[in-house]
Amino acid sequence: MSKKAYIIGTGSYLPQRILSNQDLEKLVDTTDEWIVTRTGMKERRLAEVDEFSSDMGKKAALRALDSAGLCVGDIDLILVATITPDHIFPSTACFLQAQLGADKAAALDVQAACTGYLYALSLARAHILSGAARNVLIVATEKLSSIVDYTDRGTCILFGDGASSCVVSSTPKGFEVQEISLGADGLQAELLSLPAGGCRMPASTQTVMDKLHYLRMDGKEVFKHAVRRMEHASKQCMEKMGLSEAEISWLVPHQANIRIIESLAKRFSLPMEKVFLTIHKYGNTSASSIGIALDELVRTQKLEKGEHVLLAAFGAGLTWGAGVLTMTGEC
Ligand SMILES: CC(C)(COP(=O)(O)OP(=O)(O)OC[C@H]1O[C@@H](n2cnc3c(N)ncnc32)[C@H](O)[C@@H]1OP(=O)(O)O)[C@@H](O)C(=O)NCCC(=O)NCCS
Repeated sequence: MSKKAYIIGTGSYLPQRILSNQDLEKLVDTTDEWIVTRTGMKERRLAEVDEFSSDMGKKAALRALDSAGLCVGDIDLILVATITPDHIFPSTACFLQAQLGADKAAALDVQAACTGYLYALSLARAHILSGAARNVLIVATEKLSSIVDYTDRGTCILFGDGASSCVVSSTPKGFEVQEISLGADGLQAELLSLPAGGCRMPASTQTVMDKLHYLRMDGKEVFKHAVRRMEHASKQCMEKMGLSEAEISWLVPHQANIRIIESLAKRFSLPMEKVFLTIHKYGNTSASSIGIALDELVRTQKLEKGEHVLLAAFGAGLTWGAGVLTMTGEC
């Protein structure tokens, strides 16, 4: 039987606490003007000390389930995209499965950094198309404040906490998940990583003293890859669908840097009015980023049947990807 996969509900959660550019001016040698000009960011959110990735993910998941009109018992599989898991193991997906009481669902984490939402979407779609699952819950959730060095002005200005979720299903409503194109280049792994804590460099007094449990990034080099990789993946999807640039209603990009987003939009001749932005409010929330933006898009804009939404992301790995969603008009 020929099947299709649909996003039938979305949700997101942002913690209350705000970290503004003015707050950052007090922590490191930076200015609001520098941050806004170079990144487009004004604020980001911070989770509470005792609020973990699974907790934020649960809140986003319940909103996605609510908008899908499903209960936890309907979920066959939970995919959690995160680089800030509650623990190295077991998976955050298992913590979340327990918190939700989704006892019929299998659960695993997907680790593709900021491209995690798209990688999870691709896996969920494959499960639906193969008939292996009827409803897959995707949760992207990040407590990046737990791995950010707030004395490093090159990175601490960029990242925030938050979660997003969607339900991918065989039920034809919401968005049809059309083409997805993914890529990776492990030769560039050093550009963005968390050096210690894995088996290559287990935690020790020395790794803590050397600040090796914080995120490290060569921002300039990452920047160079970002636009090119997202453009390539997006074009692959559009070519497979025979979709022209003019037919895209909305671009929902990974919210890493406004200059990266503007360059991408320019390459597709898309006016910025067609680009959905949350970067000024939430900064870069890694895997959660495009899911948060997609949820806000759905909740604030009226999308008509047949309208296409282009998702594009890149991140550590390096990883990158793009996907096209098409509004069914059914809700
Ligand atoms: C990190 C990033 C904002 C830096 O912007 P940039 O324009 O490349 O800035 P540079 O690194 O060239 O630094 C320019 C100058 O600003 C300084 N600078 C860096 N961070 C600063 C800050 N927060 N405030 C003020 N000055 C800062 C640098 O020290 C440098 O000073 P110098 O010229 O005296 O050496 C940008 O490279 C970026 O966004 N890269 C992509 C990162 C990303 O998306 N990561 C997530 C991937 S999912």
